[in-house]
Amino acid sequence: MANKKFYVTTPIFYPTAEPHIGTAYTVIAADILARWNSIQNKDVFFLTGTDENAKKVFQAAQERRIPIKEFVDKLSQDFKEAWKKLNISYNRFIRTTDKDHEKTVQNLLNITYKKGDIYLGKYEGYYCIACEAYYTEKDLINGCCPTHQTKAELIKEESYFFKLSKYQKKLLDLYKKNPEFIQPASKKQEIINRVKKELRDLSISRKDYGWGIKLPFDKTHCVYVWYDALTNYYTATREKGKEKYWPADVHLVGKDILWFHSVIWPAILFSVGIKLPKTVYAHGWWTFNNEKISKSRGKVINVDELISIAGVDSARYFLFRETPFGEDGDFSTEALINRHNNELANKLGNLISRVSTLAETHGLKKTQNKLIKKLKIKEIQNYIDNYQFDKALSEIFAFIDKCNLFIQDKKPWENATKNKSEILYELADSIKAIAILLYPFTPQTSEKIAKQFHFNITFKEISKPLTISKIKKSEILFRKIDIKNKTEEKNKKDNINKSSLSSRIEGIAAMNTINYNEWEKLDLRVGQIIKVEDIEGADKLYKLEIDLGKQLGKRTVCAGIKQHYKKDQLKNKKVIIFANLAPRMIKGIESKGMLLAAVNENESKIILISPEKDIELGSKIR
Ligand code: ME8
Ligand code: MG
Repeated sequence: MANKKFYVTTPIFYPTAEPHIGTAYTVIAADILARWNSIQNKDVFFLTGTDENAKKVFQAAQERRIPIKEFVDKLSQDFKEAWKKLNISYNRFIRTTDKDHEKTVQNLLNITYKKGDIYLGKYEGYYCIACEAYYTEKDLINGCCPTHQTKAELIKEESYFFKLSKYQKKLLDLYKKNPEFIQPASKKQEIINRVKKELRDLSISRKDYGWGIKLPFDKTHCVYVWYDALTNYYTATREKGKEKYWPADVHLVGKDILWFHSVIWPAILFSVGIKLPKTVYAHGWWTFNNEKISKSRGKVINVDELISIAGVDSARYFLFRETPFGEDGDFSTEALINRHNNELANKLGNLISRVSTLAETHGLKKTQNKLIKKLKIKEIQNYIDNYQFDKALSEIFAFIDKCNLFIQDKKPWENATKNKSEILYELADSIKAIAILLYPFTPQTSEKIAKQFHFNITFKEISKPLTISKIKKSEILFRKIDIKNKTEEKNKKDNINKSSLSSRIEGIAAMNTINYNEWEKLDLRVGQIIKVEDIEGADKLYKLEIDLGKQLGKRTVCAGIKQHYKKDQLKNKKVIIFANLAPRMIKGIESKGMLLAAVNENESKIILISPEKDIELGSKIR
């Protein structure tokens, strides 16, 4: 008999900046479900990826002056690397620039178009690029997006519309007949109310601006990024052999994008005639010291920072133990360290260490494990299947407490104690169950324990008595962390980061790493400013003439340094110039290159980098 399948997805993230604890949260949740279902012997498919055709992604690349494809290649790689560090067991990392995805999007659009669900009209209204969403005037607060508090752009243009309104009744029926479709239940009513109130047709195209998937029936338009993005979940199952995974068992999303997943996505699927996913689960929002964590504003804790606090497993454990999955939580380093110390080190770590040390000396002897009756397996199973991860962990730890009490009570270390190796067997067999149940949350730790006590990590193995083997004293699984030291260390680091003039190479952007071969593509040369002129209507720009020596000659460069340098400070100054950038038109002037400069945090200070010693014009910098 074929195994049951389980298909779980995360949102595909905008590659505008590196992944952070918010995006990691959804991805770890999906990993928990993927691992949980795979130890139950299900055929699991776990999809994550990046949402690359968005206007905000295009703009982020432009701001950093990086060619868009290079930019998304680099950032999608960063996401993959971050997920590797967090032990994420995804099966495919989809990018909306993948060829098979483009094909699927165009197929679905064609079907909907032929059905008469897409028509040409004119869109007049507002658009928030940070949300990549449409707004009406009354949605806005002082002309600003209610979520991002940034100015929404007014759009008046020809656009194709999807007949979303047509599916109002079908959607309401869906929510009624399938109570598990939107979860948690607490988030359902708001969606139902909005769908009942008004469901307007959705603008699904924009005039092509050079980035995005073209409409198959009108190549002058690109499809709206959400139509494109949502389709990714289906694309991944169009590959040969993957068809069996559709429909998805659960789309995990943050509450910010529940509307798109529970209204627009099912309507698209209704129109195309494809089965609907079983569940859309919207989890809560993490804040940091009660401030929003996001790429567009507020504090960001990136994945490296998260891991550096107390290790990968402790981070994974903390995020799902601290707050119920459907509710909001506030992140704090102290709270993470406390749970690491009190629960993982003191309770779990101590149990493993004591039992393995004693088992090394006294060995194990098979007996009936009565202790394990105190483990509420059914409840735990139910909790995880219903996304109540905090409750599952709390139950597992309640059992760990019972094991610690048991060992305290039986005292297998005392000479007078009889049946030492049987007591230890009950404990070791219980540890097997604990490690297997914790595996979705703390995979590395569980694997270490499994290796030490010699069992396989499958759900079935919980009820199979542990096979007797030679057990060796364990390494320390969780080292306790001194909160005071850690906080001081962190403050020091933060201060260093704040005070240093972040010398930024303008063209390369604030991305953390680039490959050496990317760096080698840049041609940096020594030049000399020989002429400085104002540009009409530009209060920040100078038009500079730069001499790059005999071979390269002279060229014009526009530079935004007028507020930082007087003309005579620049005259004859030696500078470093990015010499092989494609020319750009700036205020009607063709500018061929950029100057290398150091820029402070808020860009109030810009200092040109000059070679210290005399060196020939045109010399290469490396
Ligand atoms: O919305 N707390 O991408 P996105 C909890 N590309 N979760 C958080 C979070 C926080 N502070 N910050 C982010 C998009 N998230 C679209 C999705 S899907 C077809 C297209 C998580 O990069 C959460 O899952 O803005 C949220 O829904 C998602 O990141 C938004 O990621
Ligand atoms: Mg977002």
